[in-house]
Amino acid sequence: MTKKILILPGDYIGTEVLAEAVKVLEVLKAGGEKIAWTFGHLGGAAYDAEGHPYPPSTQKAAREADAILLGAVGGPKYDEVPRELRPERGLLAIRKDLGLFANLRPARVFEELADASPLKKELISNLDILILRELTGDIYFGQPRGRRKTAEGHDEGFDTMHYSRPEVERIARVAFEAARKRSRKLCSVDKENVLDTSRFWREVVIEVSKDYPDVELSHMYVDNAAMQLVRRPKQFDVIVTGNIFGDILSDEASMLGGSIGMLPSASLDVNNKGMYEPIHGSAPDIAGQNKANPLATILSVAMMFKYSFDNAAVSDRIEAAVKKVLQQGHRTGDIASSGDKVIGTREMGDAVVAVLRA
Ligand code: NAD
Ligand code: IPM
Ligand code: MN
Repeated sequence: MTKKILILPGDYIGTEVLAEAVKVLEVLKAGGEKIAWTFGHLGGAAYDAEGHPYPPSTQKAAREADAILLGAVGGPKYDEVPRELRPERGLLAIRKDLGLFANLRPARVFEELADASPLKKELISNLDILILRELTGDIYFGQPRGRRKTAEGHDEGFDTMHYSRPEVERIARVAFEAARKRSRKLCSVDKENVLDTSRFWREVVIEVSKDYPDVELSHMYVDNAAMQLVRRPKQFDVIVTGNIFGDILSDEASMLGGSIGMLPSASLDVNNKGMYEPIHGSAPDIAGQNKANPLATILSVAMMFKYSFDNAAVSDRIEAAVKKVLQQGHRTGDIASSGDKVIGTREMGDAVVAVLRA
């Protein structure tokens, strides 16, 4: 059966990095992979075209697709749009609507890029961490939220953090299963010393751990985890954490490998239907200049084949092609060291395609 992919380029560099991922899909299709794709709108592009960041047309196409490939959404063009119609709300809405609660963010170091990392080589060589971020709960979705008056009559803004038992249980199970397939070490990151939400999170993770006696569970406060990630990152294997802590820690972890432009992600539902996207944003500061690194998006295509299409061979082929172009010395600006020749988004995509064709 042909796999149907919905492509949502989004805004600013989202469209640029997606164009390179499409070149990769074209090569795979020409080589016999049974895939087909259509394009849709999400974020600012959807607001411009259809007046809503997650319009019904996208919702319908997303539900029908076998997998979704997303660029990035948001940017200054939409700063004045009402909050509920902001591009980022479209991204949150599609995650929630499709139940994409398990966000896999693998922070790996390609040895070829060891010099691009701000950390010393011995701290990061062979690093391979999997951050599992819960994606459909937490302070991102908690109600009530908004504006109100304090008892003293001051204006205030507020959000609500919460996690329910089923929400914590299911992400914890995904994390323990992932740890089982790796080094059987799981670190749950929270702020249990301060937050009731975290205290509950920790209790539930400990309960779930009873079903996984073969996995060594540890707990760490998020502030310490942020520090340990740069102090001694190789102490971690699988990290499981909530939505907001996972958002922040994964951007931090991306730099261990040299650049946020290298870190892909998968957001999965209970059946491994997934949306795949680089973890970076729409990078308005470099948009339209052929500067963005498309490799995080291309590596997201690799994750799509692995998790949604159960095709590890193609996934490995794409990852090997990325490794090869790095070996060949191809560098966009974000992963270049001094003296390196810098190439553009399109040239990097072409280099990957050339390896895949060879
Ligand atoms: P960002 O990730 O877009 O950019 C942060 C920095 O990293 C910038 O200097 C940027 O140039 C650089 N960068 C990001 N991706 C890169 C790439 N592929 N190659 C080279 N350099 C890259 O974060 P931001 O500036 O805080 O946010 C910009 C917009 O993106 C905001 O509107 C934000 O809400 C949105 N955003 C969207 C997503 C998403 O769609 N998943 C994720 C994060 C931020
Ligand atoms: C990400 C982004 C999003 C998030 C924003 C744009 C809503 O930062 O995908 O990491 O916070 O989840
Ligand atoms: Mn983020």
